[in-house]
Amino acid sequence: MRIVVIGSTGHVGTFLVPRLVALGHQVVAVSRGQRAPYRPHPAWERVQMVPLDREHLEAEGGFAARIAALEPQAVIDMICFTEDSARGLVEALRGKVQHFLSCGTIWVHGPSASVPTTEEQPRRPFGEYGIRKAAIEAYLLDEARRTGFPATVLHPGHIVGPRWVPLNPAGNFNPQVFEHIAQGRELTLPNLGLETVHHVHADDVAQGFVRALQRWSAGVGESFHLVSPAALTLRGYAEALFARFGHEPRLAFLPWSEWQRDQSEEDIRSTWDHIAHSPSCSIQKAEALLGYRPRYSSLEAVFEALDWLAGRGLLETRPGKHTEKEQQK
Ligand SMILES: NC(=O)c1ccc[n+]([C@@H]2O[C@H](COP(=O)([O-])OP(=O)(O)OC[C@H]3O[C@@H](n4cnc5c(N)ncnc54)[C@H](OP(=O)(O)O)[C@@H]3O)[C@@H](O)[C@H]2O)c1
Repeated sequence: MRIVVIGSTGHVGTFLVPRLVALGHQVVAVSRGQRAPYRPHPAWERVQMVPLDREHLEAEGGFAARIAALEPQAVIDMICFTEDSARGLVEALRGKVQHFLSCGTIWVHGPSASVPTTEEQPRRPFGEYGIRKAAIEAYLLDEARRTGFPATVLHPGHIVGPRWVPLNPAGNFNPQVFEHIAQGRELTLPNLGLETVHHVHADDVAQGFVRALQRWSAGVGESFHLVSPAALTLRGYAEALFARFGHEPRLAFLPWSEWQRDQSEEDIRSTWDHIAHSPSCSIQKAEALLGYRPRYSSLEAVFEALDWLAGRGLLETRPGKHTEKEQQK
């Protein structure tokens, strides 16, 4: 099948494109060409790279037509952030593609209620990103169910993989949290550390997209979570990391209002966003209908990412050592 992947060289595309090539698909990889995939793979030699700037072309009104002109049989849209953006593609591709897969997010759910959260639960998104992704999902599923447009929406959790810093046990992306734990230093968590995060390895997200393509009849008109088999509490996540680095857990807890005092604005914002959602999503639907089988638990995915960063000196995990950044302080 001729498949156009929009946003093809990022966290997910790095794993997805080689998987599609290995299955014999003809892949057309759309991106601005500003970055290479995270890891080299011979499959990329068989991929047609098409440099297009979506934002720029959407502002001019020509993006969707450029995608249609690539004559795809299927389109995987990794980087859709507004309903208008989705609508443009649907209108240009209606009647022309067999399958249209759109990348959403588990942020289409608001705060967790009954967990694990299923795809069927009512959407209560908050924050611009989640609200917009929920609008895209609602639009695409309506088009699929009402007009037959062959859309599937896939919702990843916190994407993890080698080469970038995973979401940490404080619910933000500050790499020093991992370094503190590795060095056996005390970590203070907000509240009781019982709020949750739900990671997924980028290759498992790629697997989910591939399975959805393969199970067309089960996937069209549906949305699916793509997450690891189980979410982690912040506390459980931190304890597992202390153990991984050979330490007894050294945890302290502070109410949210006090925890914030020693944190940067960026970390506060990020932690709040994660704990206010406290995701814990079900993969039962993806397992049953798509045959999705994540290879990585949340911890396995995080450990692989940390090993990769530490192995290249990008994260200091040896006791008593400090990163260059810390030494300069
Ligand atoms: N990160 C997470 O934890 C997370 C969690 C849930 C859902 N998601 C969803 O995952 C999707 C992103 O996937 P990802 O993490 O694989 O992406 P990513 O790592 O951010 O990579 C983005 C890809 O899109 C290309 N791109 C960026 N801007 C572009 C533009 N204006 N025109 C054309 N190409 C452009 C990039 O290459 P160039 O820079 O070379 O153009 C790259 O290939 C989004 O829909 C996001 O909502 C992410």
